[in-house]
Amino acid sequence: MSERTLVLIKPDGVERGLVGEVIGRIERKGLKLVEMDLRRVDRKLAEQHYAEHDGKPFFESLLEFITSGPVVAAVVEGPHAISAFRQLAGGTDPVGKAAPGSLRGDYGLEVQYNLVHGSDSVESAERELKLWFPELQA
Ligand code: PPS
Repeated sequence: MSERTLVLIKPDGVERGLVGEVIGRIERKGLKLVEMDLRRVDRKLAEQHYAEHDGKPFFESLLEFITSGPVVAAVVEGPHAISAFRQLAGGTDPVGKAAPGSLRGDYGLEVQYNLVHGSDSVESAERELKLWFPELQA
């Protein structure tokens, strides 16, 4: 069953020149890029995107981080796209959780600077895609 997911390459991934690596892994997995652009994230979009984490101790620094530099935003499509990309990304914490061979396992060290974001469920994907790519909605 084909799904769509939102993928972000966060400011650390863009700054470190890892865009090609992330996109290459997505393509080699067999997933398809439907939309992709490089953009600055304003505070309002960041707050909406991370709304479920409002109140957590890392919320403010997460907002500062995601608005600190350009990100790549992409719509990625394919069978099981949501879990397929999360498998490519690896667990949230690059050292504690992400397996070697995953993007975070191979390139990350700290939980905040974990390179990528991928929607975590069908409901999140729908909400996030509407937020980041409103023009795609019917
Ligand atoms: S939680 O609390 O379990 O729901 O958090 P989690 O789903 O693991 O992570 C949600 C996003 O918050 C980021 N995160 C952090 N940023 C900074 N500092 C700390 N300690 C921290 N813990 C989690 C994490 O990278 C997730 O970002 P996204 O963009 O969703 O991957």
